[in-house]
Amino acid sequence: MKPDSAAAAPADDVLLVHGGTPLQGEIRLRGAKNLVPKAMVAALLGQEPSRLRNIPDISDVDIVSRLLQLHGVAIVPGDEPGELILDPASVEQATIADVDAHAGSSRIPILLCGPLLHRLGHAFIPDLGGCRIGDRPIDFHLDVLRQFGAEVEKRPQGLHLAAPQRLRGTKVELPFPSVGATEQVLLTAVLAEGVTELRNAAIEPEIVDLIAVLQKMGAIITVHTDRVIRITGVDRLGGYRHRAMSDRLEAASWACAALATGGDVYVRGAEQKDMMTFLNVYRTVGGAFEVEDGEGIRFWHPGGQLCAMPLETDVHPGFQTDWQQPLVVALTQATGLSILHETVYENRLGFTEALAAMGATIQLYRECLGGTPCRFGQRNFLHSAVISGPTKLQAAELFIPDLRGGFSYLIAALSAQGMSTVHGIDLINRGYENFLGKLSDLGARVEHRR
Ligand code: UD1
Repeated sequence: MKPDSAAAAPADDVLLVHGGTPLQGEIRLRGAKNLVPKAMVAALLGQEPSRLRNIPDISDVDIVSRLLQLHGVAIVPGDEPGELILDPASVEQATIADVDAHAGSSRIPILLCGPLLHRLGHAFIPDLGGCRIGDRPIDFHLDVLRQFGAEVEKRPQGLHLAAPQRLRGTKVELPFPSVGATEQVLLTAVLAEGVTELRNAAIEPEIVDLIAVLQKMGAIITVHTDRVIRITGVDRLGGYRHRAMSDRLEAASWACAALATGGDVYVRGAEQKDMMTFLNVYRTVGGAFEVEDGEGIRFWHPGGQLCAMPLETDVHPGFQTDWQQPLVVALTQATGLSILHETVYENRLGFTEALAAMGATIQLYRECLGGTPCRFGQRNFLHSAVISGPTKLQAAELFIPDLRGGFSYLIAALSAQGMSTVHGIDLINRGYENFLGKLSDLGARVEHRR
């Protein structure tokens, strides 16, 4: 279906996808989209330069680089490809007009709050962007910042924040283990006065990697059992040298593409320990994989039928919500009824409408199907799905709705019969480095119309 935003997308941002060819070959992952921009923000907290390696060439990194540069952080390439040196020696207030030019481009700016309050005593944060997969409020972020002692004022163009005095450590309990709000607490608590105790924290691998970055800078952070993180504020942080963890979400996307197209893809850089839950599901559906320690993971369709299964997304260590959309395309090819319950976002199943138009049999439900009742049950959110397969997918005209949904459309188009026209593919550059090059390395028959 053509979304409202399609009118705004450039008409020539189109990929013609000739489906039916199994993806075969090797691709290389780089640093995680959900870690790298945050590690870059952390550099703002230091008194010395930081060096980050394994940075992917994606537009989210460009946006954060520009925002940090506007605030006086000098950013230059390091010795190796994908390495940046970030020097926060001359941090300064950016003009509202300059910062506002980035309104709506990403959700990362909200994480500048704590670091800017520590460095400058005030901050302006433009309206946020990111994928439209639900309401995506920032109430947890603003509540915790106020608890640290920040003054927060919402104005029509964005947020104005001030720290009249040094921020103070506090006790926080998140209503839900939000990734972003946990990062907000970490990036603020490390330089706050005294101890901060965070309960119901998110503990995604990207958060653990951010904690590793902060520890290298001199922070004192302890992760306890039961989602409790304790941070002892310090007076000063230095720089860091860090190699970003690889992108486990991109790895899963290519794994699902291999399965749905009946192919065989080696994902160099994929790490087993960050993907255990995904690997269990992949095997249960009937996909095959082989781990090469320290090198990567080979994913392939071993032939025969794929098996339908019940699936529920959850916070880590559960099945990550960003894995859901690519996997659903593979589930349309599985025999039987798959039951999916999305518990992290209330509106992350809209993409299935396009799959249904391609021939998939997918029914959406408001109820919490097959799993534990979640926050969205009985609240009019279509957040459960029943997928009946296998169904042959037919080519279609597709409009990319969001990052992971968009990649799922590509997978669907690659496995469908005929030629699909996929509009709005620039959105995929936000989180998938050189995906067109990777598609062609894997033998996909695609033509980019610019
Ligand atoms: C991050 C990831 C995203 C992933 C998500 C969950 C990045 C850049 N993005 O997004 O890919 O899908 O974690 O693993 O790292 N919530 C509130 N109020 C808030 C904050 C969150 O109600 O102030 C809710 C959200 O609406 C959502 C849930 O909490 O229902 C989880 O969101 P959160 O974990 O914060 O996601 P992000 O950090 O935005």
